Amino acid sequence: MSEPIQEERSYDEYRVIEDLAGWRRTHHCNALTAADIGAEVCLMGWVQFRRDHGGLIFIDLRDREGLTQCVFSPEHPDAHERAHALRVEYVVALKGVVRARPEGMSNPNLTTGAVEIVAREWKLLNTSETPPFPIEDRVDTSEMLRLKHRYLDLRRPKLARNFVLRHKAAQSVRRFLDANGFLEIETPVLTKSTPEGARDFLVPSRLNQGSFYALPQSPQLFKQLLMVSGMERYYQIVKCFRDEDLRADRQPEFTQIDIEMSFADEAMVMGLAENMVRAVFADTLGQSLPDPFPRMTWHEAMRDYGLDKPDVRYGLKLVECTDIVRGSEFKLFAKAPLVKALRVSGGGEMTRKEIDEHTEFVKIYGAQGLAWIKIKEGEWQSPIAKFLSEAERAGLTERLGLEVGDIVFFQAAAPDVVNASLGNLRVRIAEAAGLVPEGSFAPLWVTDFPLLEFDPEEKRWVARHHPFTSPQPGQMDLLASDPGNALSRAYDLVLNGYEVGGGSIRIHTAELQQAMFNVLGIGPEEAQAKFGFLLDAMKFGAPPHGGIAFGLDRLIMILTGAKSIRDVIAFPKTQKATCLMTEAPNVVAPKQLRELGIRIREDVAEKKDEKQEEKKD
Ligand code: AMO
Repeated sequence: MSEPIQEERSYDEYRVIEDLAGWRRTHHCNALTAADIGAEVCLMGWVQFRRDHGGLIFIDLRDREGLTQCVFSPEHPDAHERAHALRVEYVVALKGVVRARPEGMSNPNLTTGAVEIVAREWKLLNTSETPPFPIEDRVDTSEMLRLKHRYLDLRRPKLARNFVLRHKAAQSVRRFLDANGFLEIETPVLTKSTPEGARDFLVPSRLNQGSFYALPQSPQLFKQLLMVSGMERYYQIVKCFRDEDLRADRQPEFTQIDIEMSFADEAMVMGLAENMVRAVFADTLGQSLPDPFPRMTWHEAMRDYGLDKPDVRYGLKLVECTDIVRGSEFKLFAKAPLVKALRVSGGGEMTRKEIDEHTEFVKIYGAQGLAWIKIKEGEWQSPIAKFLSEAERAGLTERLGLEVGDIVFFQAAAPDVVNASLGNLRVRIAEAAGLVPEGSFAPLWVTDFPLLEFDPEEKRWVARHHPFTSPQPGQMDLLASDPGNALSRAYDLVLNGYEVGGGSIRIHTAELQQAMFNVLGIGPEEAQAKFGFLLDAMKFGAPPHGGIAFGLDRLIMILTGAKSIRDVIAFPKTQKATCLMTEAPNVVAPKQLRELGIRIREDVAEKKDEKQEEKKD
């Protein structure tokens, strides 16, 4: 096959790309209205849309802020003649006069919809190849292709607006915290592993071959050390890194608004955090949130919603009925440690297919199946109805408030499985049934978390929050006798069913910290090796302190109504933690590896080569 002929461009063709000498933008493309009619303006941006009617050529010019319609007419022959060459995404600077759009041609959906600019002269600042997908809000191109050309996807006004709001929110946070005496202090990115529960991203050291830095999962230990050093009030809007399985609300690198304060208790940290979130909502959306935010204990959340981050914008509470079905002929109900029900009012119309889909869904959470009953006129329709006695039916009717037309789902299993499966099913059903009110915000503090949770894989107790969280007064004694029931001084801020923030009052004496490590099976030697610097620091007059960290990306996702966290991160990673645009992570030169004292295992290298070959094919 012969090589395609490379077209040579003449010097003159390159000169088509003009410079900005003497040209200054007067307005953004969202700015001009009927009040500006007659004004001479200069706009700069991209051609969003072009209609060539021969006589008149129209373009919609787009910049970061909006769109303005511009017209090239034969009245200005030079500008008009050259405009035939315009194509979408060409970059243009244009001077002209604002005039009213002709009768009936206004666009009420656009802030500039009443006017258009008659172009007198214009410059071509750059050409563009035809983009791989249309730069429009309603786009049905795959996310993969859009992520590969993320810089084009970000031109879409809907996406661009998310970053305007993100910027405003960050500014609002900075203003608020500055006004409250907080110092913005940076902490290291090349650091030592901190135990936040996820895997670390490691960075090999060249100067200390065989040793690794860890990228911070959060600045937790540094912010505590800043309290020991007397900074009193610290904050940082900071990147954190966690190598964990990704979901719609999780990214391997994400941003925290990280806060710590000395001489503070729960009321102070939570009060400050509430005020900050209220300020952000007021500054970005002009929305006011309740004052104070409602509160719920962890126990109540698990009991009524099955999750520690309940969306309280709708009902559908879970109801325990273990006692009612204790003696049931239905053996699963009789024997299970916990039986809970989820009554869906008017859900009796649910099809078999929908029920089957719900059953598959709860299996993700370890459920074996999903029992259900439809309450019909005079009968209970269900594969399990025949096992339920009159007394059981009466008990369930009363406790659940059953009415004709309802469907009830039951889960009978270990508490973790019951809560996770019904709690998540509740969310799924509410979304499918349109029970979630759009554009409303329900903040909620969840408090009184258990201090520890049992890790079945490691067969030991681990800190639910992190090992620096203080137990509630008097709970240390429980740690020996009944560790699962000891409560911590941790709090989470939940918004519309997402955990947007979490924090705690910390342990601030070396003795209590070591006692906590002991409970977690971290003996004095291991504690010294891993956290010696923190234990040492605590011996030098650490003040009582506490703090909180918000997931900025999650917060913005909720503020913008985005469906995925990826829509509020400029250059996000895929579910597989890759960047489709830069193709990170990627192989590195053998020399780089040699310098680091690293060799790739042969089987891994071979697999990698195979993959590269596949890609080439
Ligand atoms: P925690 O681990 O709860 O606490 O994290 C705080 C908040 O960060 C957000 N978040 C994430 N956002 C996106 N992707 C992720 N992978 C991700 N992981 C967490 C959540 C979460 O509420 N050092 C403590 C804070 C403290 O105690 O002060 C910490 O990191 O919104």
